[in-house]
Amino acid sequence: MEDITKVIIPAAGNGTRFLPYTKAIPKEMLPLLDKPALQTIIEEGIASAIKNYIIVTSRDKSSIENHFDAHPALEAFLKEHNKESLVECIDRILKTTEFTYVRQQEALGLGHAIWLARHCIQKEYFGVMLPDDIIVSKQPALEQLMRIAYQERASVIAIQEIPLECAPSYGIISVKKQITTHLFQVGSVIEKPSQKNAPSNLAIIGRYVLSHKIFNSLDYIRNYSVDEIQLTDAISHMLHNNEKVFAYKVQGIRYDIGTPTGWVKAIISLALQHPHYQGSIRRYINELNTVESHLYNTSKNIEHSI
Ligand code: UTP
Repeated sequence: MEDITKVIIPAAGNGTRFLPYTKAIPKEMLPLLDKPALQTIIEEGIASAIKNYIIVTSRDKSSIENHFDAHPALEAFLKEHNKESLVECIDRILKTTEFTYVRQQEALGLGHAIWLARHCIQKEYFGVMLPDDIIVSKQPALEQLMRIAYQERASVIAIQEIPLECAPSYGIISVKKQITTHLFQVGSVIEKPSQKNAPSNLAIIGRYVLSHKIFNSLDYIRNYSVDEIQLTDAISHMLHNNEKVFAYKVQGIRYDIGTPTGWVKAIISLALQHPHYQGSIRRYINELNTVESHLYNTSKNIEHSI
């Protein structure tokens, strides 16, 4: 199999679970400590040796393009004040990667967003990274999938175990064959089944390595979809055509930052691992747990906090 060098990042959704924040600001630009979520995703891609990023955006999301671009006035200002290091990480991204933008005019579903990027992919395997799934792991989550794709010469989707009552929020796989504790051959995939109809507790999360053949399947299901075009339906179609698809239980912790709760959890977790922020945030959390905390003690004045 040829090297996997391209990733499609669908970022054109409406972000309704995070309204009103997402009315004018893309959820992909939510801050995770000092950088937007999308930058964290690109850094995972770079750590997995991906060079080409095809980002599917939509109206009112130009802040995404602007973030991954040169800014001569800001650079000159920072240079004058000896503060170039503040944007060094973006500089490094721009020097080592290529960005292509594709516009989705209407949010017709994840499958549709990926289908729109078909002209950027040749007869090759490529990655898909959903920017609202942040995966904190020792080995980058995408790289874990790429290793399996090279080994099996087939498409691989990331999965995690979920409580069955959460099945209606996910695509769920049925297992054709268990290969190792973490690796499964997929029998079928069902989008958002009821708890009763879920074929397993193995839910699809936001990382994939897919064969270019997915585009034929997306083409096919596009003719039959009445509502959104689901990626899971296209994967089902590939399975029907006897294409092998594997599912890998990614090692790491996944945060769904598409909701305020998931986003707050992701920030706390990232802060507690970050050399610059961990000390002060840990102290703050410990303090919140005591009755001395100003949150619980109304007689206490508002304190200076950095
Ligand atoms: P989600 O369903 O999590 O995102 O799609 P959403 O639709 O923006 O969020 P809610 O459900 O309304 O709160 C997963 C990813 O696919 C992209 C989204 O931007 C997100 O990154 N997506 C989804 C598209 O690019 N286009 C679509 O039509 C739908």
